[in-house]
This record gives sequence, structure tokens and C-alpha cells, in this order.
Amino acid sequence: MHKYEEVKPIAESYGIALEVCSDIKLEVQSDRLEDIAVKSAMIIYAISGKPVLVEDAGLFIEALNGFPGPYSSYVYKTIGIKGVLKLLNGVSNRRAYFKSASAIAFHKGVLLATGIVYGQIALEPRGSKGFGFDPIFIPEGAEKTFAEMSVEEKNSISHRAQSVRKVFELFIKSIYE
Ligand code: IMP
Repeated sequence: MHKYEEVKPIAESYGIALEVCSDIKLEVQSDRLEDIAVKSAMIIYAISGKPVLVEDAGLFIEALNGFPGPYSSYVYKTIGIKGVLKLLNGVSNRRAYFKSASAIAFHKGVLLATGIVYGQIALEPRGSKGFGFDPIFIPEGAEKTFAEMSVEEKNSISHRAQSVRKVFELFIKSIYE
């Protein structure tokens, strides 16, 4: 639902109405966010017959060689923010990035776009907005964590906003081709 709240206003700005598809549950595994998004979108489109957007994201921490990356959801559910901060205890390199892959499957095929936001892992969690690792991610050029930002502020820089904007643009272009 947090993702939906972020993406809904962006979709509306392109004249696209989004609804949440909660009746199909999928667990596509891959080391690449792009593959997860594309495969999931194709499967859901095949089942539902309606144009579908799938967005898959992950947090990549430099000092941990990109961990948790595509496994961010599992890591969030298991060790959580506390566990990630523990892994970085005493580590001075706090560089990390969020990456998002958005795929739209529809009658003409599948479109894919990605977005990245670089930043730092905070020393402690701050803020109560957003979801997931938002309380410990400070995007480059900001002082606040994502969890201290409004949806509009986060959307002005986030990985997800970048990837969905790009894929909506591709979608609109290809509809009129
Ligand atoms: P998903 O597989 O795309 O649902 O996301 C994987 C996990 O990455 C989520 O469960 C979150 O913990 C984390 N994540 C992805 N995007 C964000 C974000 O924008 N903010 C904070 N955490 C995120």
C-alpha cells in the first residue's frame, strides 16, 4: 500500500488510473530486480488480461557488497532495520543506493525502466513516514531520511518515482504508436 500511495499521484499526472491487484500472489526469485519485475508483470498480465505495472526494489549497501539487494524484502522481514544497523556497526563507509525496476505488461508486450537514488545509511533510524528501510536511508543532498519526508518530497528524488515515470512515458508513447 505504501508503494501504491507513492505511485498513484505520479500515475494520475500521466492520466493513468491505478488499482491495487491483491488477488494474485506471486514469488518470482532472481538476482536481478529487472527479471523479477518483467516476469511478474508477464505472468499477472497473462492471468488478469489487464495492463499491469510491477515495481520491484532493493537496498544495495556498498560495505556489504550490495547486500541485501534483491533480497531486501526477506532481510527486512527477518533481521530488519536493527539487524542491518548491527551489520554496519563500526563501519565508516555508509554508502548505499536504492534501485527500482518497473515493468508494464500489456497487449503490445512488456516495457521496463529503472531508477536509482544514492545516499547513506544513517547511524540510527529517524522518522515515521514511508515503509521498509526508509528510516535509515538519507538520500544524497538531503539531511532527512526518507521516513522524515512527505510522499511529494520522496517522489521528487526516489528510485521508484524515477522508474515509474520512465515506464509510464514509454507506455503512453507505445499506446499511440
Ligand atoms: P519489494 O521486493 O520491491 O517489495 O521491496 C523489497 C524491500 O526493499 C521492501 O520490503 C523494503 O524493505 C525495501 N524497499 C524497497 N523500496 C523501498 C523504499 O522506497 N523505501 C524503503 N524500503 C524500500
